[in-house]
Amino acid sequence: MTTPLLQVKNLRIEFPTRRGTLTAVDDISFDIAPGEVLGVVGESGAGKSLTGAAVIGLLEPPGRIAGGEILLNGRRIDNLPFEEMRKVRGREIGAIFQDPLTSLNPLYTVGRQITETIETHLNVSKSEARHRAIKLLMEVGIPAAEKRIDHYPHQFSGGMRQRILIAAALAMRRRTHHRTRRFHSSADHHAAEKTLSRTRHLDHAGHPRYGRDR
Ligand SMILES: Nc1ncnc2c1ncn2[C@@H]1O[C@H](COP(=O)(O)OP(=O)(O)OP(=O)(O)O)[C@@H](O)[C@H]1O
Ligand SMILES: [Mg+2]
Repeated sequence: MTTPLLQVKNLRIEFPTRRGTLTAVDDISFDIAPGEVLGVVGESGAGKSLTGAAVIGLLEPPGRIAGGEILLNGRRIDNLPFEEMRKVRGREIGAIFQDPLTSLNPLYTVGRQITETIETHLNVSKSEARHRAIKLLMEVGIPAAEKRIDHYPHQFSGGMRQRILIAAALAMRRRTHHRTRRFHSSADHHAAEKTLSRTRHLDHAGHPRYGRDR
């Protein structure tokens, strides 16, 4: 049996409030195997986003993990110091947030944002990073990527912005990423299908050009 990529065991998330402790997530457990896609469904306020935030170590205080364990490749990540966890987030796990506009900096071109990630994490030259960024944008289906790379976030559609975030997440050589997105309209559904099939293809391909371990 292969070790699960991600294990969440009996996760509990609490918020201390003036009127006592609010338990927002109570005893959640799940595993994700390599290459597996897990969809989490639940009513609004059920704790989906908080669970995702806890896994990537970005739970906003005063929210805190009050119980359970989170393991990535068999290693506990729920109790890592902030700096350690920041490295894990850069290299092994990433998130695609519900609202891409707030995750992309409106003041910088999308190219700059992706290339900076590549330069930082892969230690390659500026021109090599740009070349890789264009390839990633092409892989997530941004038309005319070599031109679009110099555009700003507001110049793209919502769906394109979300795919740009996927490209940025792939740029970090992530092994896992969360797809936290609610799908309301059929257009969203269509985008979701495309996003999932694209990223699934990338998962299976193991994106060797970006996944090399050094
Ligand atoms: N900062 C906070 N302080 C107190 N309670 C909070 C805080 N953040 C979230 N919660 C509560 O935790 C619960 C879970 O929130 P979460 O954002 O995970 O829901 P969700 O399942 O993602 O919902 P949605 O489908 O609406 O996005 C909710 O009841 C919410 O009110
Ligand atoms: Mg949510």
